[in-house]
Order: sequence, then C-alpha cells, then structure tokens
Amino acid sequence: MAFLLLLVLAVLESRGVFGPPLEAKADPTNSSYVPRPDWYFLGLQQLLRIFPRGFGQVLATTVIPTLAVILLVALPFLDRNPERSPRRRPVAMTIGALSALAVVSLTIAGDLAVRREERALARRRAADKALTAPAATPSESPPQDPAQLAAAGERLFEELKCASCHPLTGPPRGGVPTLAWEGGRARRGWLSIYLKKPTRIRWETNLAKRGQRPERRMPNFDLTDAEAEQLTAFLMARQDPELIPHRPELSAPAESAAVKQGEKLVHKTYRCIICHRIGPEGNLFGPDLTHVGSRRQPDFLYAIIHNPYRLDHHTAMKNLHLAPDEVRDAVRYLATLR
Ligand code: HEC
Ligand code: HEC
Repeated sequence: MAFLLLLVLAVLESRGVFGPPLEAKADPTNSSYVPRPDWYFLGLQQLLRIFPRGFGQVLATTVIPTLAVILLVALPFLDRNPERSPRRRPVAMTIGALSALAVVSLTIAGDLAVRREERALARRRAADKALTAPAATPSESPPQDPAQLAAAGERLFEELKCASCHPLTGPPRGGVPTLAWEGGRARRGWLSIYLKKPTRIRWETNLAKRGQRPERRMPNFDLTDAEAEQLTAFLMARQDPELIPHRPELSAPAESAAVKQGEKLVHKTYRCIICHRIGPEGNLFGPDLTHVGSRRQPDFLYAIIHNPYRLDHHTAMKNLHLAPDEVRDAVRYLATLR
C-alpha cells in the first residue's frame, strides 16, 4: 500500500501536479547562486560546509551518512540488551539523544548559513542598485578615491576566493594566469568589461595537450558594475616595473611605416600566425590576437615578445629573438589591432 501510494505521488509530481517548481537550468559558471536544499537536506549541506575540500567532501557526502545508515541496520545485532525501559538503558539513550541533537543542530546551522548567504547577496544587489541608480540622491555617495576603491577590490578578491585559482605573486599556477602584475598587462577598460563577462583568451586554444591551457575556466561571478570597478582598481594597481618596464616611446603615436613594418614581421618574417590567429589568418595554438590591442598594454606586448620566459618559465610562447627595433614595430602593429 505504502509503495503504491509513493508511486502515485511520484508520477503526479513528475507531471507537475504538485511539488516544487523547476528553476532555470543550472549554470555552473554562476557563482552568485545560493543553493537552498529541502529542509531535510540542510543538515547534510551543513556537514559539507564543515568539510569543504578534498577528502573531506567524500567524508561529508558519503562516508559519514553511509556509516550512520549501516549502524542503524546493524543495531539489532549489536545491541542485544533485553531491557526495554528507557531509564535502564542510559548508554543507548544518551547516544540516541546526542545523534538527534547533532541532526537538529546541523539542520538549524544549515538554515542559518543559507539565510546568511541570501542576505549577503541581497545586500550586494542593493548596494549596487544604490550606486548605479540614476542620480536621485547625487550628494549621498561621494566619488571614491582610487585607494579606497582598490581596498574594496582587495576585500572582494578575498571574499570571492579569486586566489583559489589565481596566484597573486609569482608565476601562473596550473595554467591559470598570475595576477601579480595584471596592472602592467591589461588595459583598464578591457579589464572591467572582462571581469563582468569573461570571454575566452587561452581557453579555446589547444594548449591542453601540453597541460598549458588552464583546466578551469574563468567563472562568471555575475559582478555588479560597482564590484567590477573595485576589482579593476585593485588589479590595475598591481604592477611590476622590473618585469614589465615602462617604455614611453611606445605610448607615442606610431608612424604608419613602423606599423606596416610590424605587420610584415608578424605575418611574414617571423610567422607568428603559425600559433596565433589574427582575423581570418592563423591558428589557435596561442591566444587569438585579433583584438589584442584593446586587451593589452604596449609595455606588456614588448615584454612578452622580447622574452616570454621572463614572465613565465613554462610558457608555450616562443622566444623568436627579435631585435629590439623589430619588437617595437611588432608592438606598434599589434597595438592597432582593436
Ligand atoms: C575556477 C578558477 C578561477 C577563479 C575562482 C577565478 N578565475 Fe580568473 N581566470 C581563470 C582562468 C582559467 C583564466 C584564464 C581564462 C582564459 O585565458 O581564457 C582567468 C582569467 C582571469 C583574468 C584575465 C587575466 C589576463 O589578463 O589574461 C582576470 C583579470 C581574472 N581571471 C580575474 C579574476 C578575479 C578578479 C577573480 C575573483 C573574482 C577570478 N579571476 C576568479 C580562473 C579563475
Ligand atoms: C610556438 C607558438 C607561438 C609562436 C611562434 C608565437 N607565439 Fe605568441 N603565444 C603563444 C602562446 C602559447 C601564448 C600564451 C602564453 C601564455 O598565456 O602563457 C602566446 C602569447 C602571446 C601574446 C600575449 C597574448 C595575450 O593576450 O596575453 C602575444 C602578444 C604574443 N603571443 C605575440 C606573439 C608574436 C608577436 C609572435 C611572433 C613574433 C608570437 N607570439 C609567436 C605561442 C606562440
């Protein structure tokens, strides 16, 4: 009877007669989604919060629940005490009460944690609305100075755990770009757009075979405008003038002859397009350079073409040993690719 009832309920539920509605399809790159399981799973989810990584995850999702069930099944064999009065069974009663207490407190803690996350998300959304709302209250939020913005960006960087993938000092890790000197590499305008909607740079190249493509993708954090600006300010302040020296001659407007010469060097002489795509030409062994001028600063372009190994000892980008004036012309050409 119970089984039949369950079957009928399951069929009705699958027809959408009742039960929770399905939400939008899961988006693994949306990191602002707050998962709220049904109440009887809140405790298990909380267990996972206690053991968040590595073998702990297996422990929380598989080992502990399985052991608990096995224990329940084995209980009649383990406990042969003929006594039935609760008062005469202190050990069993204590264990039972403690288990119940553990389940209840995990469930409550899980519920509180989900509420906390939901409130934090709502606060972020509200704060952004206040900042980006049409200037109804213009004098309320004074423009922040860059140092303040960068400090807020640093806090956000920690809060969103960007460093779980990106090193903030030293070379790339596991193919994920280092952000140690992002301010010397990225153009500000591009960076703030990229953070809000990451596009592919290295991902679609075929560096995977050599383990040089990042295994993981840059997630879409669904950042608000204000958050993207804070992170941009933080990252743009990260410079390493020794690694990427400033070359004033590259910021001056280039003569068209130099640009022409650079184009010849890149496409013909050194055949960079064996690895790089530029417009319709070339391959995707390395990043697509079609719009590299919008993305990268000339000083970085100089540094990576001049000696890519200085930036990353294990890079798959070749040092083709261009002469300094050849590097300059190549940079002048690449900088026009907007
Ligand atoms: C799951 C790992 C992961 C996390 C977490 C992550 N990133 Fe990334 N990020 C990547 C990968 C992989 C790339 C390279 C993407 C590519 O080249 O196509 C990347 C690229 C970037 C770039 C571009 C670097 C460049 O100039 O080439 C920036 C900037 C960046 N991430 C910032 C952030 C910030 C800020 C956060 C935190 C809000 C963050 N990332 C969190 C994996 C991650
Ligand atoms: C053997 C293949 C190969 C050749 C040849 C090559 N590159 Fe690269 N290049 C790469 C790879 C791989 C990367 C990605 C390096 C990384 O992200 O660590 C890269 C990165 C770059 C970048 C940085 C792109 C970005 O958005 O960060 C530039 C610019 C660049 N190469 C220019 C050139 C130029 C100019 C030439 C010719 C003089 C050239 N490359 C020749 C493989 C190559």
